[in-house]
Amino acid sequence: MRKQIVDLRVTCAEHLGRGYVLLKLTGDEVLPVMFPGQFAELRADGCAHTFLRRPISINFFDEVCNEVWFLIHAVGEGTRAFCSLKVGDRLNAVLPLGNGFTFPTRKNLSVLLVGGGVGSAPLLFFGRKLSEIGCRPTFVLGGRSSDDLLQLDFFEKFGELYVTTEDGSLGEKGYVTGHSVLGKKRFDYVATCGPKPMMMSVARYARGVGAVCEVSLENLMACGLGACLCCVEETTDGNVCVCKEGPVFNIDRLLWRI
Ligand code: FES
Repeated sequence: MRKQIVDLRVTCAEHLGRGYVLLKLTGDEVLPVMFPGQFAELRADGCAHTFLRRPISINFFDEVCNEVWFLIHAVGEGTRAFCSLKVGDRLNAVLPLGNGFTFPTRKNLSVLLVGGGVGSAPLLFFGRKLSEIGCRPTFVLGGRSSDDLLQLDFFEKFGELYVTTEDGSLGEKGYVTGHSVLGKKRFDYVATCGPKPMMMSVARYARGVGAVCEVSLENLMACGLGACLCCVEETTDGNVCVCKEGPVFNIDRLLWRI
């Protein structure tokens, strides 16, 4: 799978509230094949202080419509620029980058996908791919409040959905790892994406129940190509660039104290 530099055109810019925007984009040519867990480096044009591209995970890839989706939270100058794009605007991207989640080898595997806030984004695409091979995952998504839980209707299409909020405005009150479904079902494989403390807690849970666990790291990135070394993570194989070797890692490869 070769990465490409492509000029994408916005086909939909859906404002989801609280600074979240879902961008759907297409290319003039057929887009390269992408896999869940991979990401793109997007160029923020027209900003005075953003020289570097921004790494954004692939939220969804629709091969039939030749469309790639990005779920973006406006938290800085670059992401605000992406969120201000309108239908017809252009966005330059390098994609697909990195290595994604591992697909289960048997379809009757019990799969748990845990996401926090906008970190849930790549799990939607993963859920669709899993459902295509006959594996219906369990999603547990968490946020501070109901405003941080996004695309729930899409998630429901591909698996069983449970949610938590810290303020109790939707689903069970508390954190994802406290959701009651984790005590009721048994999982063979767990994948997670979101804030690091949440992923560590999910990894601890997975280890406790003997499940294989993959996490999608969100280390600071600049080049996205393995050149600047700003995304390094310590692993059992030494220091590696998250942008090239990840962003998805099996927790057994990480030196996390969990
Ligand atoms: Fe530059 Fe990973 S972002 S080496």
